[in-house]
Amino acid sequence: MRSIALDIPVTKTEHSRIGEVDMDHLQFGKMYSDHMLVAHYEDGEWKSAEIVPFANLSLSPATTFFHYGQAIFEGVKAYKDPEGNPIIFRPQDNWKRMNRSAARMAMPDVPEELFVDGMRKLIDIDRDWVPSADGTSLYIRPFMIAVDEFIGVRPAEKFMFIIMTSPAGPYYSKPVSIYVQDEFVRAFPGGIGFTKAAGNYGMSMYPTQQIKAMGYDQILWTDGYEHKYVQEIGTMNVFFVIGDTAITPDLAKDTILEGVTRDSVITLLREKGMKVEERPISIDEIATAYKAGTFKEAFGTGTAASIAPISELTFHENHMKLADPETWEVSNWLKKELADIRYGRKADTHGWICKV
Ligand code: COI
Repeated sequence: MRSIALDIPVTKTEHSRIGEVDMDHLQFGKMYSDHMLVAHYEDGEWKSAEIVPFANLSLSPATTFFHYGQAIFEGVKAYKDPEGNPIIFRPQDNWKRMNRSAARMAMPDVPEELFVDGMRKLIDIDRDWVPSADGTSLYIRPFMIAVDEFIGVRPAEKFMFIIMTSPAGPYYSKPVSIYVQDEFVRAFPGGIGFTKAAGNYGMSMYPTQQIKAMGYDQILWTDGYEHKYVQEIGTMNVFFVIGDTAITPDLAKDTILEGVTRDSVITLLREKGMKVEERPISIDEIATAYKAGTFKEAFGTGTAASIAPISELTFHENHMKLADPETWEVSNWLKKELADIRYGRKADTHGWICKV
């Protein structure tokens, strides 16, 4: 592992807020750590990066991303290992995905030194903000916004890259109920479904509001042509355990986010000897398996959500209620295996752990 090579100037806060955090009752996304990393891109290069006290930004109302949504983000997590040292899970994979999003959104590449080493330095400074209890982590949110002061429509020339962090508890505290969406569309081939563009989440708010009013937690999106093949859930990728096989939608048509947790799950399951298929899976196939009694488990995967069991799936009049997730073999094994690796309790044989 390289040392932190980047010479980022640091201004430390004079008033740490760490005393205000109840590490025993953490929720997701409510508290922000003392510092943030801020970098500016102008004239074709990243000009400055610094770590400063977490604070509000001052931006012109004409700033591009407010109007046209040229904004992308990532989600990464840091954990405490058994010796109390912070470790980050697969940040290089998030860095690569950030740059895939950036390319599609006509935004500049973020250098690895800025994304990964900058993140390591930030976590080192705010190491006391990394919680240690099982199920908790320091959620890391890198993001990039277009900041030209111009309201004509054209790709921006100035950008800000920021990393902020937040001590977090579980995203979902109970199994999620899912409504299979066949009215609205998340992603088409050729669109931005594979990116972590802010707009992918903004456009989901209205459909999510509708299904929440019906009593469901989350949407499972289907393809835009036929509403037949499932894509992903609003906040995570999705897996179905049917018979002895774990099936997840493939990434072929650029409509699905290439989840880092998704990839970790596929890797771990294959190593365990389980059959994993990445392929188009239709809602009809899932309903048929449910009727036949072979649909055993369903779960979402994501950095924020981790492994989130799905309690039920509704598609029109078809209500598929699954057995108690506590009894599920595959997802409970995965949860434990992944947690052991993430908290440094198990040898890192994949090179997934990045030391701070
Ligand atoms: C993540 O899992 O990190 C995400 O960015 C998803 C978001 C819905 C919290």
